[in-house]
Amino acid sequence: DIYGLARITPLGRDYSLFDARQAARLAADAARDERFVSGAIVGGALVVTPGQPVASPADGARVVGTVSDATPADIDRAVALARKVQPAWDRAGGAGRAAVLRAMGDALEREMDALIALLSAEAGKTLNDGVAEVREAIDFCRYYAHLAERQFVGLEPLNGPVGETNQLELRGRGLFVCISPWNFPLAIFTGQIAAALAAGNAVLAKPAEQTPLIAAAAVRLFHKAGLDPALLALLPGDGATVGAALTRHPGIDGVAFTGGTETAWAINRTLAERRGPIVPFIAETGGLNGMFVDTTALREQVVDDVILSAFGSAGQRCSALRLLYLPEESADETIATLKGALDALVTGDPADPSTDIGPVIDAEAREALEAHVARLEREAKIVARRDVGGLGAKGSFFGPVIAEIPTADFLEREVFGPILHVYRYRAGELPQVAARLAARGYGLTLGVHSRIDRFAQEVRALVPAGNMYVNRSIIGAVVGVQPFGGEGLSGTGPKAGGPHALLRFAVERALSVNI
Ligand code: NAD
Ligand code: ALA
Repeated sequence: DIYGLARITPLGRDYSLFDARQAARLAADAARDERFVSGAIVGGALVVTPGQPVASPADGARVVGTVSDATPADIDRAVALARKVQPAWDRAGGAGRAAVLRAMGDALEREMDALIALLSAEAGKTLNDGVAEVREAIDFCRYYAHLAERQFVGLEPLNGPVGETNQLELRGRGLFVCISPWNFPLAIFTGQIAAALAAGNAVLAKPAEQTPLIAAAAVRLFHKAGLDPALLALLPGDGATVGAALTRHPGIDGVAFTGGTETAWAINRTLAERRGPIVPFIAETGGLNGMFVDTTALREQVVDDVILSAFGSAGQRCSALRLLYLPEESADETIATLKGALDALVTGDPADPSTDIGPVIDAEAREALEAHVARLEREAKIVARRDVGGLGAKGSFFGPVIAEIPTADFLEREVFGPILHVYRYRAGELPQVAARLAARGYGLTLGVHSRIDRFAQEVRALVPAGNMYVNRSIIGAVVGVQPFGGEGLSGTGPKAGGPHALLRFAVERALSVNI
């Protein structure tokens, strides 16, 4: 039965198949019929107050659900409950905690179609982006369960003098605040929580303002999967109020944050002024990501990888390609092929399987991108721009853009959306151009397209980056395969989905006994 559900692998969806499309349609219809509700979830119970509507970025007239902000009293109650149960969770050890994380992975897998439909409605994710997002959330749960079992094993022997035993163990720190962005509202939200829990902590989770509904769905799934509800509270609300109140709270023991670099600075300031335990701050932030191409690169491959890296997920990935450096000798041909590939992309309803690019997250994001295009019109050269036609009136759709920039210094900071900047470099100019990118201080993703290994090595030496990709796209890091995260203005590490991910969520305790 090649068209039957058996062809759909347990962890994926193939939307070229009728059954997968049918399942997606049914899930989208069900999401349309449901009015999702989010708000503070403390001790497993939703604190019900009249909520604000959450509109879909794809259709401003569609209310997907409602959300009410957490109050200071909700925060205090969540802290008190979590602190009570965390010691037992910590004592359970990695093996004790892994079962719950695996159960959460299984629950996500079972709910995949419904979660994809909600991601599409609330965050404007295309179906394929939705699949990748749910898969990543599942991977985080299973991978961190595996790390917890291997690393949180109680006291482990160390070397030492005769007559003395020396041992070291990893333990949870206590209560972690996890603050996440809207662009991976399930994968990053779940990944932060899974890491903190795996290391033996309780969690207060603060989702992005734009995506509280999928966050509430994930928290409910964690609880259904067997997690003591007191160990995980959802506290939605504005960053400057609820986020700041959480990071200021004397009852917390760590902060894991993913979002913009400016927000990381703001949280750093709050933490610096706080009295109480000195807590770790794990920050994964923005990028100014470049790809360097030389004359030996294969043009079709370059174009495929550039299109995916710059315009996939409507360019709303921290890892997305912002700056493409093309050698002057072949730039014209590459740009012409890029224009052709851009023309073939379909912008539209994210729930339609044929859509490549959905909306950007909200009107504010679109305005910021339009303002940047106005600058490009004045100071650079727009090479191609797709028109979104009537869609622009319906939702926050923004036509992808390719622009040639006049100087290597043109872009100072991350522009978050489907805009690709192209710079032509002259023979011999590469070291200077690469040094200018490095001088911006980001360090997230970096791409090279070349058949010459020395070229890739030269670029690698000139531009620091947490994740470098050669002859492939620069997005879509896979848990356990491409541990993900940047340096400098792009974050602190440890890398999400990497073998050291849990260590900063933990304290180390040494024990020396004279026998
Ligand atoms: P953002 O910084 O505006 O918000 C992120 C989170 O921080 C939200 O939950 C927000 O409410 C909260 N927040 C805002 N101000 C706060 C404050 N003063 N105190 C505490 N919390 C506060 O980011 P965004 O717009 O949601 O997401 C997009 C950004 O995230 C981009 O810059 C992107 O590059 C970055 N990002 C980075 C990674 C990575 O792994 N490096 C991954 C995804 C997104
Ligand atoms: N981890 C995501 C990627 O690699 C952001 O694209």
